[in-house]
Amino acid sequence: MQEKIKEYWQDRAKQHAAAPAATTDDVYLRELEIATLRTTLGEHGLTSGTFLDVGCGDGYSTMQIAAAFPGFTFWGVDYSENMIANAKARLNSHPELSNRVKFSVGDVLSLCSALEGTVFDIALTDRCLINLETFANQASALAQIAACVKPKGLYIAIENFAEGQDNLNQARAAVGLPEIPVRWHNIYFKEEEFLSCVREHFDLPVIKDFSSSYYFATRVVYSKMCQMRGEAPDYKHEIHQLAVQLPWTGQFSPVRMAVLTKRA
Ligand SMILES: C[S@@+](CC[C@H](N)C(=O)[O-])C[C@H]1O[C@@H](n2cnc3c(N)ncnc32)[C@H](O)[C@@H]1O
Repeated sequence: MQEKIKEYWQDRAKQHAAAPAATTDDVYLRELEIATLRTTLGEHGLTSGTFLDVGCGDGYSTMQIAAAFPGFTFWGVDYSENMIANAKARLNSHPELSNRVKFSVGDVLSLCSALEGTVFDIALTDRCLINLETFANQASALAQIAACVKPKGLYIAIENFAEGQDNLNQARAAVGLPEIPVRWHNIYFKEEEFLSCVREHFDLPVIKDFSSSYYFATRVVYSKMCQMRGEAPDYKHEIHQLAVQLPWTGQFSPVRMAVLTKRA
């Protein structure tokens, strides 16, 4: 199964090349993730240091954050050779970032050896760990990520949680929409399992439901409108674009951001 999942990302990298949808069809969700990351780094007063992006895909988000935080150096790793080739090509077209950003092939399940023992001020996973086929693998990846973060450094996990998915599906059911299933290549975390695992390494978990309003607007209100009109939902619709600007409220999204501080 793990091989099939990797193949999926390898193919996606080939099909989409440098197109914005290479790592997600929901391109406005990724813009919201990037905006929330920028705000989060700002809230922590972080202006310089080292940043690790695990499961960086084609490097789109890595490079957006790099452009916004000139005091940081960035290392993006992904197990898909094709994704990393696309990330390197993207970097070639932004020579101004080339002395602060690098990409290499590496599996989160053997992260420490892929990074040759380097430790970072900040580590990020953005919808990466949901691609591991068991919770045991997810827990092992979390332990490896913890080992790559300096004491008092941050781990920011943007990952999917079953509770948000359930809330979303209940809201959809309330207006007569079918359930959105979890895709074959994903396993969503259960909040308590995730927290009990990260508490072994990190303090002060803060969970941000940053995409709750976005999901409510796009997967409930807009989806219902589409159903009523007999239209297929379009990820590029203006509602997706404007939903990025909504203040977040509720817990209607599977995608949450956990901000974790490595124990000193
Ligand atoms: C949903 S994409 C997200 C990419 C990027 N973080 C973004 O936000 O655009 C998930 C990425 O995780 C990578 N990935 C999945 N499992 C991985 C693993 N075991 N080790 C490293 N990367 C992995 C995939 O190749 C893919 O590029």
